[in-house]
Amino acid sequence: MPKSTGIISKLDYIASLGVAAIWLSPIYKSPMADFGYDISDFRDIDPLFGTLDDFKLLVAEAKSRNLGIIMDMVPNHSSDEHEWFVKSEQKIEPYTDYYFWQPAKGFDPNGAPIPPNNWLSVFGGSAWAWSELRQEFYLHQFHAKQPDFNYRNPAIVQELKDILTFWYDLGVYGFRWDAVTHMFEDPALPDEPVSGNPVDPNDYNYLKHIYTQNLPETPYTLSLYKAHTDEYSLNAGDGLHRVMMLEVWNPIEEVMQYYRNVSDFPFNFRFLTTMGAYSNGRDAENAIRGWVDNIPDNGWPNWVLGNHDISRVGSRLQLTDGAILTTLLLPGTSINYYGEELGMVDTYIPPEEVVDPAGYRDPPRTPMQWDDSQFAGFTTGPKPWLRVNDNYLTVNVAAEEAADESVLKIFRKLVALRKEPAIQFGTLHTTVVSYELVLAYAREAVNATDRSYMVVLNWSHDQTHVVNLSPGAFGAFPFEITNPTVEIRTIGSDIPYDNFDPSAFTLKPRAGCVVSFNAVRK
Ligand code: NOJ
Repeated sequence: MPKSTGIISKLDYIASLGVAAIWLSPIYKSPMADFGYDISDFRDIDPLFGTLDDFKLLVAEAKSRNLGIIMDMVPNHSSDEHEWFVKSEQKIEPYTDYYFWQPAKGFDPNGAPIPPNNWLSVFGGSAWAWSELRQEFYLHQFHAKQPDFNYRNPAIVQELKDILTFWYDLGVYGFRWDAVTHMFEDPALPDEPVSGNPVDPNDYNYLKHIYTQNLPETPYTLSLYKAHTDEYSLNAGDGLHRVMMLEVWNPIEEVMQYYRNVSDFPFNFRFLTTMGAYSNGRDAENAIRGWVDNIPDNGWPNWVLGNHDISRVGSRLQLTDGAILTTLLLPGTSINYYGEELGMVDTYIPPEEVVDPAGYRDPPRTPMQWDDSQFAGFTTGPKPWLRVNDNYLTVNVAAEEAADESVLKIFRKLVALRKEPAIQFGTLHTTVVSYELVLAYAREAVNATDRSYMVVLNWSHDQTHVVNLSPGAFGAFPFEITNPTVEIRTIGSDIPYDNFDPSAFTLKPRAGCVVSFNAVRK
């Protein structure tokens, strides 16, 4: 791939956003049964994306722009086309026990093998697939082409360590760890109990996953990789902290077990799991406090607005600039899915065009909208892998660069504010006013001479609210707000930048802003 193509050609744009790193969903060699999450070679790049040499160039070009490359690590499974699985199926050593193999529980009257137990796949149906060759079942908690590794085999634990080293040597800044809670299963293979959810018995949510998810061995094993990663950084002596961020969707108490020496952070999916289009300011405050109040001491917070597995935030919360305003000035790391900086929304995919094995994740995965040319500038090929959203003529990078006000411009301003001392180190205060509808949070500067910041957003769909920002107002905050200036406002909010009246701050439905001020302790 020549230097000017692919992601390399977009690095200037990504760097212009002010972000620190790019997380790439898996680009390893893969038959693409689950779009890269079925890896057939953990040490190579799929030709669809380029070559290993292209990757090295990408890392170097990114580094020269102060951008890190974060890879996706998929520890739970490989592709069934991985050499390890092919050999495991033939019982060729040392691969025989690399995967989770089990004999049939018996055979039905027609001679068909009966799976070892009732475990279900996340994508639906039994989590067991029969190998004619080996005459045993293998476990697949996702697609049948994604056989689960056997983490009770120390050889697998070591293989993964070696893979990490391979990529660290190539200069990656760390990994996003996929589906980690699935790494261990109960070896006694008990049936899982029924959850009581009113769903089809083949649906994953039909069972309570107490024997296949979040076993105590999982955080322990991840801590070995964390130690390996930290040791690598120590030996590299380059001052780089190689990041480990984990995909954990479980209830909050379980999620928090993945902090401390297990990872840098488990993803905070509160905005994805606890909120919807009609959530109000109180719900948003709960999403924020639910994380910061539960995090262990010295835990590093993070905020995820969307990803490739869930409806885009613009559709899910019906907020675009309001959503990034809500999360980007909170303490900790902010993780943003491509296109959120433009306000991209879900794309309707007709049933005959669905490509996702799970069936529902295509709408947020459609092409990045670069400009108003054919296929939004995403490809010069005959057609993109998924259709482009119809709104690409106006929602695209080029148009938003040119517009006076755009989600893109708001995103850049917010990212720039993240360098302010109050956003880096300031204390977080939250409050909700106007009948639970308006969320306000402040980042109070540690140094009274530094500017503090406040984000105010009206979550109502139809009511305008007048908020009082004058000294003495906002009773929940332990300071007075003096010399306020509007730094950023949502599109169409008509909030005046200059000469506004802090005691009667008018917020139209779904409108909000960022105000800087001097905090004076009461
Ligand atoms: C979670 C990933 O985000 C998803 O896209 C994938 O299908 C599963 N894990 C399986 O790897």
